[in-house]
Amino acid sequence: MCSVIDYPAHLHIDLDETHRGMKLGPKLLDALCAHLREEGVPGIELGVSTDNQGAIRFYERYGFTKLKENKNEITMGLKLICSLYERQ
Ligand SMILES: CC(C)(COP(=O)(O)OP(=O)(O)OC[C@H]1O[C@@H](n2cnc3c(N)ncnc32)[C@H](O)[C@@H]1OP(=O)(O)O)[C@@H](O)C(=O)NCCC(=O)NCCS
Repeated sequence: MCSVIDYPAHLHIDLDETHRGMKLGPKLLDALCAHLREEGVPGIELGVSTDNQGAIRFYERYGFTKLKENKNEITMGLKLICSLYERQ
């Protein structure tokens, strides 16, 4: 179950067309996630259109998982800070 307590940060990325496919997305995510971890933010979520299979693959490769899905949109989330229980 997705909750704003687990995933309080929300993400949008829209690289200019001339800069897609150059692995800038992972670098931006690395910088954002590092900053959020420093601030103690436990997780981040986003909405992606079900039509946007390239972006869904991109987020899955990065470690995002599907939290919920409807006909048009998938909500995906990434935990930034694992609890001791989850690490075992
Ligand atoms: C999705 C996005 C953030 C990925 O960042 P990136 O730096 O392009 O990432 P990568 O270089 O690792 O490429 C990842 C995916 O982007 C897509 N992509 C790559 N080059 C692309 C291009 N020229 N045009 C459109 N999409 C492209 C591909 O689907 C690729 O995945 P695949 O190799 O499995 O097909 C970026 O392509 C983007 O901003 N796209 C347009 C907006 C968008 O879809 N945002 C996400 C909405 S939630």
